[in-house]
Order: sequence, then C-alpha cells, then structure tokens
Amino acid sequence: MIQTRRSPWSFGVPLVCLLAGLLLAATHAVSGGAEIRRSDAPRLVDLVRETQAAVNRLNALSEQLAKLDFAATPAATMSELKREEHSVYNSTILHELYFESLGEAPTRPSGVFAEALARDFGSLDRWRAEFAATGKALDGGSGWVILTYAPRDKRLFNHWCADDGMAPAGGVPLLVLDMDKHAYATDYGAEVGKYVDSFMPMIRWTTPERLYREAIRV
Ligand SMILES: [Fe+2]
Repeated sequence: MIQTRRSPWSFGVPLVCLLAGLLLAATHAVSGGAEIRRSDAPRLVDLVRETQAAVNRLNALSEQLAKLDFAATPAATMSELKREEHSVYNSTILHELYFESLGEAPTRPSGVFAEALARDFGSLDRWRAEFAATGKALDGGSGWVILTYAPRDKRLFNHWCADDGMAPAGGVPLLVLDMDKHAYATDYGAEVGKYVDSFMPMIRWTTPERLYREAIRV
C-alpha cells in the first residue's frame, strides 16, 4: 500500500526564509548603506510568500505522486508532474540559499574559500566581475546565477541558469543570485544592473564559506 509522505520541506524552508527576512529587515533600520538595504524588506516579504507557495506546491506534488498508479498514468501527465516537481524542488533550495546569502555588513571571503576563488577565477575581483556580468546577462525576467563547487572537478564555477530547472548537474550551490523579476522589479524596475550591483556588496560570506568547507569533504 502506498503511503503519503510528509515532505521535510514543510517547516524548514519557510522557517529559514522567515528568519532570514526578519533579520534582514531588522538590519535595515540601523545599517543605512547600500540602496538595497533600505528598500528590500517589502520585497523579501513577497519573496518569502512566493517561496512558501513553492513549498506548498512541492508538498502537494509529493502527495499526488505517492498516490499515483504509474503504469496507468499517461506519459504527458507523468512528464508534467515530474517537470514541475523538479522545478519546484530546485526553487525551494535556491530561494532558501538566496535568503541565507543576504544581510551582513560588507565583508570579504577568507581562508581556504578565498584561496579557491583566487585559484579558480584568477582573483576575487575577477570572480566578482564574472558573477555580476552573468547576472546582468540574465536580463529576461527569470533565472539564477549560481556559484557552485563541483566535487568531480574540484573547482568552483559561476553558472548561468535561465530558470529553476537549469541548476547544474554535479555542483553544490554555495551562493545564488535570484534574477527573477519578483526579486528586483519592485525596487529597480527594469534596471537589472542596479539590482546586481546592489547585491554584490551585501553578500553574507559566512554562508558560502561554510558550504564550501562542507562540500570539499565530499
Ligand atoms: Fe525567485
């Protein structure tokens, strides 16, 4: 008998996103600084809502798939369900990481992670230039820039992803930039470059550094 499973995402993702949003909103009151810090609290609330919707949809899909008679399910239905499951699953992970990547006073990467950035991109400035240019190249209203560590190649990459389904195979995401319109249109309209330039100085480097140290042990 098939049992309906409860996804672990039911509580984890919205809680992380809510806490990150509250933390970031709180820092705005005292930080001043970059434009994105003054104005992105309402935007984050919208993003948290959208992420919650993705979590809910993922749970609904999991329950639907758990009850399905696969042998009797038309190929078109299977295709649509699995395509959406893949897309929504990636969306929950990437949005969680986006929230975890924001909200700290400007800092720089350090230790073995800083060494890896310099090794794989030439310098921190070269990494920064490539990451930002990749974001600005995604000027179509959707997508992600994902800094990943690839255990197979033992190196870092900046990946261009036009939608949630394009997250790279074999890479551990360390830092992401949401290039969907819901992340910037409220504050920046069509000025994608301003949004990207505002994101870069407010990266919470402790997050990708921690994830990198975990990833290189794989
Ligand atoms: Fe998004």
